[in-house]
Amino acid sequence: MNSPEDTSPRQEPLGELPAGRPLQTDFNDGLDYPRLGTVSFRRGTLTDNQQALFNEHWPHLGRVLADERIDLDEWFGRTGHPTIVEIGSGTGTSTAAMAPLEEDTNVIAVELYKPGLAKLLGSVVRAGTDNVRMVRGDGIEVLVRMIAPNSLDGIRVFFPDPWPKARHNKRRIIQSGPLRLFASRLKPGGVLHVATDHADYAEWIDELVDVEPLLDYKGWPWDDCPILTDRQVITKFEGKGLTKDHVIREYLWERTDAPNPE
Ligand SMILES: C[S@@+](CC[C@H](N)C(=O)[O-])C[C@H]1O[C@@H](n2cnc3c(N)ncnc32)[C@H](O)[C@@H]1O
Repeated sequence: MNSPEDTSPRQEPLGELPAGRPLQTDFNDGLDYPRLGTVSFRRGTLTDNQQALFNEHWPHLGRVLADERIDLDEWFGRTGHPTIVEIGSGTGTSTAAMAPLEEDTNVIAVELYKPGLAKLLGSVVRAGTDNVRMVRGDGIEVLVRMIAPNSLDGIRVFFPDPWPKARHNKRRIIQSGPLRLFASRLKPGGVLHVATDHADYAEWIDELVDVEPLLDYKGWPWDDCPILTDRQVITKFEGKGLTKDHVIREYLWERTDAPNPE
């Protein structure tokens, strides 16, 4: 504990979210948003090897959710490149496989689960991939606070948590509110790509494909899609789904030219 004379700000351990109530925006726009305030996500520890890599590389490749806009050019060390945010990157299997095929693109993986981020960090460091950065935090808050409106070329949400119990459906990330938020962060012509292997979640998304006027639903496949849509690998979750005879459903939307209402 700090002594009464010590007025220096408290330093969180590397990659840890600040203690206390998580940042949670009150949108007040009549749309539906997931509420995760009381949900506790998987914890886990890093192996010694992961921790060593994390200590060395997180300071330049990662950051935690904070109330400050990311300077993309500064963080990626280059200007004028397209940027894609992936929300809920898990262990980053597809992130790491796709990034070398889109070297021209800045990729930001957002995830709450630290060991998942540590795994992705290890993969990109070992492969020498230098177009991936990571943010630890709730993807909704990261978009609101850290990403400027009209700045993204793509947003990916691959195999979001299905929250299958009816009473938990409201925690799903694909709802009218996040769709509005995603649209607001995309540039006109930007792409939203969602995939699920959960039949009930797919039915839920089917109901929402046309709900956001700033997103033009393109279906799947979309031959002229301007961003990479092939995940390259079967992720852990995708693999599980497939063995249970689940069908993978993919959804693509294009941000319209209409100005943001904000
Ligand atoms: C079912 S997993 C899928 C992971 C990965 N996309 C894949 O295909 O293997 C969903 C992931 O989303 C993360 N997640 C859930 N809600 C999130 C949120 N609001 N912001 C960031 N990550 C979130 C979870 O921690 C989990 O790792």
